Amino acid sequence: MFKKTILCIGAGYVGGPTMAVIAKHCPEYKVVVVDINPRRIAQWQSDNLPIYEPGLDEVVYIARDRNLFFSTDVDSHIASSDIIFVSVNTPTKTFGQGAGRAADLQHWEKTARQILRNSSSGKIVVEKSTLPVRTAAAMERILNSNDKGIHFEVLSNPEFLAEGSAIKDLEQPDRILIGARNTESGKKALEEIIEIYAHWTPKEKIITSNVWSSELSKLVANAFLAQRVSSINTISALCEKTNADIEEVSRAIGMDSRIGPKFLKAGVGFGGSCFKKDILNLAYIAESYGLTEVSRYWEQVVEINSYQQERFVRIIVTSMFNTVAEKKIALFGFAFKADTGDTRESPAISIAKSLMNERAILSIYDPKASEGIAFELADYAGRFTVEEDPYSAAQGAHAIIVATDWTEFGSYDYQSIYETMEKPAFIFDGRNILDHHKLFKIGFSVHRIGRPPMSRLG
Ligand SMILES: NC(=O)c1ccc[n+]([C@@H]2O[C@H](COP(=O)([O-])OP(=O)(O)OC[C@H]3O[C@@H](n4cnc5c(N)ncnc54)[C@H](O)[C@@H]3O)[C@@H](O)[C@H]2O)c1
Repeated sequence: MFKKTILCIGAGYVGGPTMAVIAKHCPEYKVVVVDINPRRIAQWQSDNLPIYEPGLDEVVYIARDRNLFFSTDVDSHIASSDIIFVSVNTPTKTFGQGAGRAADLQHWEKTARQILRNSSSGKIVVEKSTLPVRTAAAMERILNSNDKGIHFEVLSNPEFLAEGSAIKDLEQPDRILIGARNTESGKKALEEIIEIYAHWTPKEKIITSNVWSSELSKLVANAFLAQRVSSINTISALCEKTNADIEEVSRAIGMDSRIGPKFLKAGVGFGGSCFKKDILNLAYIAESYGLTEVSRYWEQVVEINSYQQERFVRIIVTSMFNTVAEKKIALFGFAFKADTGDTRESPAISIAKSLMNERAILSIYDPKASEGIAFELADYAGRFTVEEDPYSAAQGAHAIIVATDWTEFGSYDYQSIYETMEKPAFIFDGRNILDHHKLFKIGFSVHRIGRPPMSRLG
């Protein structure tokens, strides 16, 4: 017999890992994760989990079928739950008012109505999805305008995990943020959520706030992180003009304790499902309150990100004698960063498309993201292949492009790779992760971000 039942609606990159960690640490709670996607649920129930995340398998195997369950039966699990985390996707709107900027809340609103329809007792509803500030007010209105005489308490508990380190981030979070109403029922609900996290998180790391600060903090955290990436990438462009070295500049400024070393790695820019959508959403919200300058300020972070990718492609084409038409080019990495198979908004997508628009033929290798490649590049079928290993990807290619910071890319036998490539052979390291001097010695022309090229061609 379980003490309480926790339900999570949405079994994605956030819902799955978060609930697995909660279930692992709270064996007295029954934790159910539901999703409308039957394939995803079947994968969560199998040995082949739907997402790659270091350490995830172990956590799921500890708790699954003990107190962690996956199901497609959303309605009946809503009815029998006490606490509902909502972790559905909230992508950028692609239609109507706010298209391309505002958050698309259709999944979220459907969920709210579904919760209401299937509840006969009051529940705590926790926003886990990233949402525009003041969404909880709308959710409360939908849920509490019922004639069943039941009360829903809506809390905000944004998720700060990063893909690729999700389990570590969940096990040892920098902080847990919970926003609640300052009412009797709000305070009671807050205590219940604190109690869950206190099973493994030190009390001083669990911080509370009002609901609006909590909702806004998530958007702002992502905006600040993305801003650091765009800031350092603007400086990488300046380094390339001045022969300053971006790695040296990053190191020098990162040792200033007021700045700190993280997120100062120059590269082809940020990706992932969150940064772009959350900044655009923040900018849209600011504009809707008449704060045009604030909105423009944050939009620049996204613009610089696109600029960095365009700049990288320009360097590739220019260096390869101004044409890549019908040349085979190997793309190493397609995931938006290392240690994930997630390709959403990956910089590799725009780089690949731009090169194929220039008529290049791509052979793409990624250790974990093969499935996403065909999906993201569906319109370019016939102009690229997905390779099983890096050596066949590079065979006969004129160039290798590194688009993801997978550690394994540094460990290949580049001497053998070089021998199988067309000459002159180029490497464009969009993540500055390879041993450039070694590659240059082998015979490659090496192009880096924010550092002078090591060219054999004068
Ligand atoms: N991915 C991240 O790193 C990350 C980190 C922090 C916060 N977030 C936020 O968390 C939220 C979820 O992100 P994600 O990456 O897990 O998304 P996701 O797309 O991987 O997962 C969302 C899941 O919700 C399901 N879903 C949608 N509508 C549903 C409904 N009505 N009933 C049941 N299931 C439904 C979808 O089928 C999908 O499997 C987003 O708001 C995102 O911004 C994501």
